[in-house]
Order: sequence, then C-alpha cells, then structure tokens
Amino acid sequence: GCAGDFASRVVAWQARHGRSGLPWQGTRDPYRVWLSETMLQQTQVATVLGYYERFTSRFPDVQALAAAPADEVMALWSGLGYYSRARNLHACARQVVSEHGGRFPVSAQQLQTLPGIGPSTAAAIAAFCFGERAAILDGNVKRVLTRLLAFDHDISSSAHQRKLWQHAQELLPGEPGAMPSYTQGLMDLGATVCTTRRPQCLLCPVSDACAARRQGEPERYPVKGRR
Ligand code: ADE
Repeated sequence: GCAGDFASRVVAWQARHGRSGLPWQGTRDPYRVWLSETMLQQTQVATVLGYYERFTSRFPDVQALAAAPADEVMALWSGLGYYSRARNLHACARQVVSEHGGRFPVSAQQLQTLPGIGPSTAAAIAAFCFGERAAILDGNVKRVLTRLLAFDHDISSSAHQRKLWQHAQELLPGEPGAMPSYTQGLMDLGATVCTTRRPQCLLCPVSDACAARRQGEPERYPVKGRR
C-alpha cells in the first residue's frame, strides 16, 4: 500500500544517500546506541564523534559508566552542553545496573521509564537494536511527516501531537528488519533534504507523495504556535 511504498523508498534512499559509517551505526549494543542518541539529541554529528569515542573508551559498558564518580562523567561531557543530559545519563546507567541487572530493557515502552529517555529516543533505541516497530518523532522527523501529509494543525497542541504520532506509526515498514534503516533514513532525510529552509525536493525519494510539495509551499510546515 501507500505506507509500505513510503517506507521502502525511505529505506532504499538511506542505503544510497543516508549517513553511513558512523561508529554507532555498526553496533546493535543498546548501551552504545543509547549513548550516541543521547549525545545526538541537541548536538551535531561532527561534534559528537570525539565525545562518543572518549566515552566508549573510558566506559566500554553500562557497568563501567554506572561505577564512575559523577564528577568524572561531567568532566568527560564538558563542552557538549545541556548538562542535564549528562546527569540523566549517569542516573540511567545506575538504574540499568541496579534495577535491570545491567541489561537495557528491550521495548520502547520500558526504555521510556529510564531517566533522560523520552518517547523518541526510546523508539530509536528499540528500532535500531531490536527492530521494534516503534515510531520516532524528533524535530527533523516532524518536519518530514507534516510536509508529507500537509499536516495543517498546530503541532504544539498535545491532541495534534498525538495524531501525528498515529500517522508516524501507520507509516512504519511492515518488516521489523527494515526498522533500523527506515529510522535512520527518516532522520537523515530531515537533516539533509527536508530542511527547514529551502528543502531540496528534487533530491527527495518521496516528493511525488508529498502533499506540501504539491501545494507548492513546503516551508509552511510544520505549523507551530499561533499563525
Ligand atoms: N540525531 C538523533 N539521532 C541520530 C542518528 N542516529 N543519526 C544522526 N543524527 C541523529
């Protein structure tokens, strides 16, 4: 159907044009994926690379991170900003060790109960590591989907947020095996093609399905706040 076609185009595009070869892409270790997703939440890939390398060298697993003193974790995070991320990171590692025997939960729903892991990060970890059919909806993906659907509602309203989550869920690939590249593909599409300003619709694998493009004004989406 239409949703399956959307998903398979995103997957095919990711393989050819998406970001690849990043150190956290070669693993399904939830510790490493969680660490990279946490760092990538508000920070560019180029900046994250060095921090990710230092963290995984010093703390190769969740036990090592949990056992570290807080000031060492904060010192290693220094320069990445948004320091609540580092405090939550440490608290989360300690909770995985104390309450989950050192193994990350395997479902998005359970992952969300941990400190610093919101719905989108939980879904990304579950999709990348376990192939769960869980939808992500970070800023980049909201832009892609609101444009695809010409979603004409204020996305700061929680009722409309919920509706957009439903759409995101319906667009997922049917095959769990496609979830990692689909999830990465949506993120990459939003970051590199479906940009806030001057989206490159000519490079987009789903432009023929995009309602905002058909209307001729993709930059109108997402609709936020009072207009
Ligand atoms: N931002 C959040 N997660 C990301 C990922 N996996 N790759 C690139 N940017 C991201």
